[in-house]
Amino acid sequence: MDYKLGVAQALKEQIGDALPIKKIVGLLENPKSAEHGDIAFPAFALAKAFRKAPQQIATELGETVHSPIVEKIEVVGPYLNFFLNKKEVSAAVLKEILEKGPHYGDADIGGNRNVPIDMSSPNIAKPISMGHLRSTVIGNALANILTKVGFNPIKINHLGDWGTQFGKLIVGYKLWGSEEAVKKDPIVELLRLYVKFHEEAEEKPELDDEAREWFKKLEDGDQEAQQLWKWFREESLKEFNHVYERLNITFDSFNGEAFYNDKMQEVMELLEEKNVLTVNDGATIVDLEKYNLNPALIKKSDGATLYITRDLAAAIYRKRTYDFAMSLYVVGNEQSNHFKQLKAVLKEMSYDWSDNMHHIPFGLITQGGKKLSTRKGKIVLLEEVLDDAVASALEQIEEKNTDLPNKEVIADQVGIGAVVFHDLKNDRLNNFDFTIEEVVRFEGETGPYVQYTRARAMSILRKSGIAGIDTTVDYPLDDAYSWEIIKLLESYPDDVQRAYEKFEPSVIAKHAIHLAQAFNKYYANSKVLADDAQKPARLALVQSVATILKEDLRLLGVQAPDQM
Ligand code: ARG
Repeated sequence: MDYKLGVAQALKEQIGDALPIKKIVGLLENPKSAEHGDIAFPAFALAKAFRKAPQQIATELGETVHSPIVEKIEVVGPYLNFFLNKKEVSAAVLKEILEKGPHYGDADIGGNRNVPIDMSSPNIAKPISMGHLRSTVIGNALANILTKVGFNPIKINHLGDWGTQFGKLIVGYKLWGSEEAVKKDPIVELLRLYVKFHEEAEEKPELDDEAREWFKKLEDGDQEAQQLWKWFREESLKEFNHVYERLNITFDSFNGEAFYNDKMQEVMELLEEKNVLTVNDGATIVDLEKYNLNPALIKKSDGATLYITRDLAAAIYRKRTYDFAMSLYVVGNEQSNHFKQLKAVLKEMSYDWSDNMHHIPFGLITQGGKKLSTRKGKIVLLEEVLDDAVASALEQIEEKNTDLPNKEVIADQVGIGAVVFHDLKNDRLNNFDFTIEEVVRFEGETGPYVQYTRARAMSILRKSGIAGIDTTVDYPLDDAYSWEIIKLLESYPDDVQRAYEKFEPSVIAKHAIHLAQAFNKYYANSKVLADDAQKPARLALVQSVATILKEDLRLLGVQAPDQM
């Protein structure tokens, strides 16, 4: 039910051709305080067309505009404040949610078109960083939101499984490594070899030459190099998959950088054909001066291709394979220059579809205001963060509810959910600080708070003794506390759309927090289970809140335990 549209239509009947309906909808505001009504229209938007003072226009419209969903209109200066008919609106909103269930808010904007989402994309032989965690959970939430508005997302893990670092790793392994050590703790050991390589190479630069040679061998298909590379990749992927399993996140493709190795030749030919290459000091570049960007280095003087060359191949491959409507890259803000260059090179090749490629950047996770660093082996291991969050959740659950069955399973859903929610609740470009205590709090604007509120709604429904809500009757409600909830339920489809348009999961997280807060206020101020005539309507409201909170959490990739 779209009440803004309803009000806009009622206005349109009186305004006539002065403003198109879309424009009117766009002008409607949500007043900050309830005493100014539910929707406001600024009449000065009509002053020019009507050649009258806004105040006078407002007064006249206040007398002529009528609609069954509008209870009264108050004119305050140049503003028309609409007070909606609470009973009509709540009955219609609840009916729609009870009928559609979790599909409330679904839209068909996408027409089932494909949207590849480049997400997570950690580097082999290194731990998944907190930055990769951000990319993973933001990408996953965007995939859910895109599905809800009718697109077909394709989640691609563009693994960092190629590049000169593999030459270094092979040299390090041959000099200082062993099979047992790698098998025992692959990422820690591979990282150790990598760090050691850098330390040693400072004194022995010939190691760098060896590493370059080994990477060249790898690119040329040398068997020993290939075998080691494959093994490192498999061992790393096993550990990554462990994290993905805990986060409950799956991928449609693990085609990483190496996948494009045999597609490099063609990319070079295409670049050649389109006449965009220049050779500079032996290196092959694309000049991007007219885009105000530094030249893109496509091929080094020793013939090795680069990160961006593989991204060019990947972009072209994705266009051909998926014929995408949009192609998204959920990657940290520090790579924004890379993606500008990538798009510019494709534009130079006259691939206009590059306009539909979007870098979705995000800010840093900090600790005590400082950037988390992986250098010098000082790393925050993601698995440990998840373990800590789950342990903290279990502690709090045990304090609250001692006879809860399968506490461990619920603690897992709460602890992991808390980390994911915390990551998604801020505008994605903001940096944010990370402390377990803050993340796993049951009060405040946290995932556990939303989960706990929904579990409370479920428990009310269990206690009510009713088997189910009759969806064929109307549930009119008109008290102030339920009205705050109804408004948030009513605006949900708009919020979903806004989350999609801005590629911003925080819109959904904020909706969940506001809905949970409104529900807890309602619960504290009304006798929900009292046996009177309004009881079924109150339960219909509780049921609708539970449905939408769960859907909010699902879109974010967070589970919603029925009890906690
Ligand atoms: N592996 C890269 C890193 O960790 C991220 C890759 C992002 N995706 C891409 N298509 N470039 O920095």
